[in-house]
Order: sequence, then structure tokens, then C-alpha cells
Amino acid sequence: MPRIAVCPDNDLPDGEAVKIDSPVSAIAVIRSAGELYAVTDRCSHGNASMSEGYVEEDGTVECPLHAARFCLKTGAALCQPATEPLMTYPVIVEAGTIYVDIPETA
Ligand code: FES
Repeated sequence: MPRIAVCPDNDLPDGEAVKIDSPVSAIAVIRSAGELYAVTDRCSHGNASMSEGYVEEDGTVECPLHAARFCLKTGAALCQPATEPLMTYPVIVEAGTIYVDIPETA
């Protein structure tokens, strides 16, 4: 499973997000209430970037375009207009650096 370096752990404050490119898709790496999450950056409803969304303190992110909310842990769409989930990815912190594990592409 390819591992992609995101940034130093100290460079992603609580309530913030950073967008990275990966072989599968752009990914939003988000810290909410001290926990790190990684989800597909593109909203499942339309062409919006979740890394530009509103990170809530309850482990959710709100799309900046039409305000759908997603669970960062499961990727589930929690309200309309989105109905499809976001993909989620494992996040690891090693030696002070944040990494995301990307599944092998076929
Ligand atoms: Fe995200 Fe519409 S583009 S809710």
C-alpha cells in the first residue's frame, strides 16, 4: 500500500485541512477535535473541495458549496443534498510526519 507524506504533524492545526494529490484521487487530510482523518477531496454531490469545507469539532466536515455534511470517520453523507459517501483512507503519524495510506491501484 503506497504511503504518501502529507506534512509535519505540527503544520496541521485542529479544525484545518490540507489537500494532497494521490494516484487514486485528490485527498483532504483533516484534523477535527484532535483526530486526523483522510477523505476524498471532491464532494460526492458536486465539484467542491472538502479541504475548503468547514471542519466541525464533532468529527464532521461541511461541504463549502451546498452544505452537505460528512462523517470524517466513515465518510458517510449525513444530510442532503449529498447521498453518497466519501472514500476514507488510513492516516498515520510517524516520526512527526503525517502520512496517508493509499490502496493499490489495479
Ligand atoms: Fe457538496 Fe453539493 S457540491 S453538497
